[in-house]
Amino acid sequence: MANLAQVYLNGKFLPPDQARVSVFDRGFIFGDGVYEVIPVFGGRLFRLPHHLSRLDASLGAIRLRNPHTQQEWNDIFTRLLAAGSGDQSIYLQITRGVAPRDHAFPPNITPTVFAYAQPLKYSPPEQLAQGVTAVTAADIRWQRCDIKAIALLANALLRQEAIDQGAVEAILVRDGLVTEGAASNIFVVKNGRLVTPPKGPFILPGITRDLVVEIARAKGIPCDELPVKIETLTSADEVWLTSSTKEILPITRIDGRPVGNGKPGPIHAKMFALYKEYKQAFIQGQVD
Ligand code: PDD
Repeated sequence: MANLAQVYLNGKFLPPDQARVSVFDRGFIFGDGVYEVIPVFGGRLFRLPHHLSRLDASLGAIRLRNPHTQQEWNDIFTRLLAAGSGDQSIYLQITRGVAPRDHAFPPNITPTVFAYAQPLKYSPPEQLAQGVTAVTAADIRWQRCDIKAIALLANALLRQEAIDQGAVEAILVRDGLVTEGAASNIFVVKNGRLVTPPKGPFILPGITRDLVVEIARAKGIPCDELPVKIETLTSADEVWLTSSTKEILPITRIDGRPVGNGKPGPIHAKMFALYKEYKQAFIQGQVD
């Protein structure tokens, strides 16, 4: 953290140790805010319109107005990114702002806006080559997982449970159905068909998830957005997780048992190649 050149806070660009937020900020007191993580490849903000429209949906759901226009966001990100190099990611968060502690929304409150850029930490190559281990866990979260809320206590507990068991991710299960990972979306492959849980209140509408669905449809890979039973997960040929920072990562062991033959599968190889092709076209300005 300390080696970041600058962060953005409420209209100012500051060294991180000079950026201060009140202890009465509702983000600190209540977790009352939303966030986004946007990857930046070859200096371009990947799927920016999708991230900004999900931000609008999250803000709308918690009854906050977007404090910036698209152009203003762009200007903030561009300035933050100028200090770094290589592939980066933008973290941005908006909280309801500072007010005496009271659950009810205070009138006329100014939101707190915070953002920074950092180098993108890619998954280690051996994770892509061999796949990663996951565990299943009961989805103990609330019923508005579609909001990208900064209140991530359940997600943090679940991810830590996975780490404590030597795994990389927790695959969450609600009422016998797979929802998503602690910080990722889930795809399963059976007999050459991709399936991912449908959007709704129990999953975050992942931008990477949507891109994988879009690529699959464009390239003729069968892909369904349908409920995924726990039995479908455990009998799948392949399982993947997707996120802006982990991209598309094969999961090759779940709860100590191999997925398929225990190696990343051919559909993953195909999809990852198509994803990289898309990314390359994006970097070269051939797609938006
Ligand atoms: N998390 N589901 C959850 C609960 C997530 O936290 C994330 C991403 C995703 C994947 O969404 P996307 O493809 O838009 O990154 C799904 C981010 C990376 C994070 O919290 O750091």
